[in-house]
Amino acid sequence: MTANEQPYDRLREVKQFDDSKIGVKGLVDSGLTTIPRFFQHPPNIRSGFLPSSRSKSSYQIPIIDLSNHRTKIIDQIKSASSSLGFFQIINHNVPKQTLNHAISSVKAFNELPTDEKSQYYHRNLGRGASFSTNFDLYQSQAASWRDTLQIRLGPTPPNPGALPEDLELAIVEWDREIKKLGEELMGLISEGLGLEKERLKDMSCLEARTVVGHYYPYCPQPDLTIGISSHTDPGVLTVLQQNEVGGLQVKFDDDWVDIEPVSGALVINIGDLLQIMSNDELKSVEHRVLANPNHNPRLSIAVFFNPSKREELLGPLPELVSAEKPPVYREFMMTDFLKRFFSKELDGKSLTDYYKI
Ligand code: OGA
Ligand code: NI
Repeated sequence: MTANEQPYDRLREVKQFDDSKIGVKGLVDSGLTTIPRFFQHPPNIRSGFLPSSRSKSSYQIPIIDLSNHRTKIIDQIKSASSSLGFFQIINHNVPKQTLNHAISSVKAFNELPTDEKSQYYHRNLGRGASFSTNFDLYQSQAASWRDTLQIRLGPTPPNPGALPEDLELAIVEWDREIKKLGEELMGLISEGLGLEKERLKDMSCLEARTVVGHYYPYCPQPDLTIGISSHTDPGVLTVLQQNEVGGLQVKFDDDWVDIEPVSGALVINIGDLLQIMSNDELKSVEHRVLANPNHNPRLSIAVFFNPSKREELLGPLPELVSAEKPPVYREFMMTDFLKRFFSKELDGKSLTDYYKI
């Protein structure tokens, strides 16, 4: 370091960027060709972002046709949920128009003039909606190359004015259709576990929903950073819609398997809570999104289904516990679970590990 060089103050850089409210999209629009240092992941981690280690596996994520016979679907979902923890579904009855409208609305929001969009840039989900670069920006070791809208849709909707009206309408419509699908999927999953069809619904697992809309702009140095770091989803179940760009991967035996975009399909995955409730029969599996090397932005919209009853004890369901299958997790309340999730970096399996007996 020369005499007039300042030491690198990471927090100061992060804060300056966050206070600018321009998001990653704003950085890209400014024409930068190298990414700021606080987005760069440490060399031992980013070696896993190189093209050579991007996708080694020839394993395929199953595509399940919901117009098949119910018993067949139940088997296919059970099998995918207890191995990879991920599958795609087609013929799901969610209108194409609802899906297209939601993606185009999230895209249009992210592509608003920066000064207009920055009015919505904040991290306070108290109003029911927030927009920022990485909700864990101040907890993580390195930032990720994406901007995220977060919208709480249950049990109460966002405050009026928290979002542009057309965006809100598109998301509310998307959520209404996807909630019906969520009910269908939870019924199929419950039956696959040998439970009553309404078991998860009765536990209020359809009621607390958070929708996220991610925007992954072009990244000029995709080998140095990531779009979303490897993590598991904390909730019960996730339904995700992605556009045609790709980059989502799921971890399988130490390899990364691509979740190829399939037009009109939805991606479903098991969250930590369902792994715990199923007493480890179903798997909540680590996944990530690579930084986007394409000039076309990558978009995704996901809903996380959670129980709205926050003061009731959760843990392995009694029907799935026996002398041969003793409980793998202790019981806890949703309030404690959420507190733990929001106070940490988006990471691997730390949440389920914490409740392990
Ligand atoms: C998530 C997630 C993947 C994607 O939001 O938890 O894994 O494709 N998103 O954006
Ligand atoms: Ni996820």
